[in-house]
Amino acid sequence: MENNTIISLQNIDVSFGKENVLKSFNLNIRDGEFVTLLGPSGCGKTTTLRIIGGFITPDTGDVFFNGKKINDLPPHKREVNTIFQKYALFPHLNVFENVAFGMRVHKKPEAQIRETVGRMLEMVNLGGFARRSVNSLSGGQQQRVAIARALANEPKVLLLDEPLGALDLKLRKDMQTELKKIQQQLGITFVFVTHDQEEALSMSDTVVVMDKGRIQQIGTPQDIYNEPQNAFIADFIGESNILDGVMHRDFLVEFAGRKFDCLDKGFRPMEPVDVVIRPEDIEVVPPVEGHISGVVTSVNFKGVHYEIIVDVQDFKWMIQSTEYQEVGDEIGLILQPDDIHIMKKSEYSGMFGDYSTFSDEMEEDSQPAEEGEEAES
Ligand SMILES: Nc1ncnc2c1ncn2[C@@H]1O[C@H](COP(=O)(O)OP(=O)(O)O)[C@@H](O)[C@H]1O
Ligand SMILES: [Mg+2]
Repeated sequence: MENNTIISLQNIDVSFGKENVLKSFNLNIRDGEFVTLLGPSGCGKTTTLRIIGGFITPDTGDVFFNGKKINDLPPHKREVNTIFQKYALFPHLNVFENVAFGMRVHKKPEAQIRETVGRMLEMVNLGGFARRSVNSLSGGQQQRVAIARALANEPKVLLLDEPLGALDLKLRKDMQTELKKIQQQLGITFVFVTHDQEEALSMSDTVVVMDKGRIQQIGTPQDIYNEPQNAFIADFIGESNILDGVMHRDFLVEFAGRKFDCLDKGFRPMEPVDVVIRPEDIEVVPPVEGHISGVVTSVNFKGVHYEIIVDVQDFKWMIQSTEYQEVGDEIGLILQPDDIHIMKKSEYSGMFGDYSTFSDEMEEDSQPAEEGEEAES
């Protein structure tokens, strides 16, 4: 544990019935850090927050706060507050009293309550709303009240469980910026949960990628994006072409039928690996000039770039390029050494790869749900 570690989860295991929900979970969170737990639904994010909050006791393992073991400390004695997706405001109290609630429970002096509530409402841009009923507020405004209420208790750590999930996209983007600003202003630790990779990458100092109750990778957004450690992460974060490869020796990898120089080393000679190449890193050239070449099978305009699917010996690559290509044309692809990322084989190898189902997926997405489907799921 580093000196400035505020929360440390050590060797945590949690099961519900026969389901092992967190497995050998180890996580250190630094004071003042914006940490995001990112992963698909059911991977254990909420469970992790509930352990930090004290609402779940792990089967094995320890929870430390500022170096002190707090396994048995009840939730209300932890210097931690939680904000949920469902804001759980008190409908019979106005905005002011919702924010003041925790301070009234702790019998703080009236003058301090007024000062703090006023400051918190200013911070979340609800300065003139103190006397309003919470029922008269929009979803975004209610969420701001929930944030102000949590912060008014001056927690050392704020736990946020998909707090922006119920907001529409535009408002969600605004709130991302605002939350980040608030966190930097107050300098308190945020542990933020989302299943949205873009949200995680844009807000966090550190991203913890989870799947099936295990931490898959911990790193800065840049690390996670540029150096994914396995095929799950490469697939989950952004778009990725993932190919089977073989490391011939340090700095030389074979895939797509030829050898490429790369920047990776430390593998066994001829070790099978997964190779990830991001769509935006691939350069398009005339076929004879490419390292490999293929035929364009689809082109979609995305605003800033075109998303181009290219068939190279039956493997469908995705390329993002600002230059338009014609469906049916043959094009060449250039892959520079620093565009090639080598990952160890993992339980996820072979589960993700090319974009052969890509156009089908898009068609499915754009079709209305079958009748009755909604009710069954
Ligand atoms: N109280 C509970 N009882 C039984 N199963 C639970 C309980 N809470 C969570 N689970 C299960 O544990 C797994 C992880 O849940 P959760 O931590 O809520 O995931 P996430 O927040 O990442 O979606 C899921 O399979 C979920 O069904
Ligand atoms: Mg959850």
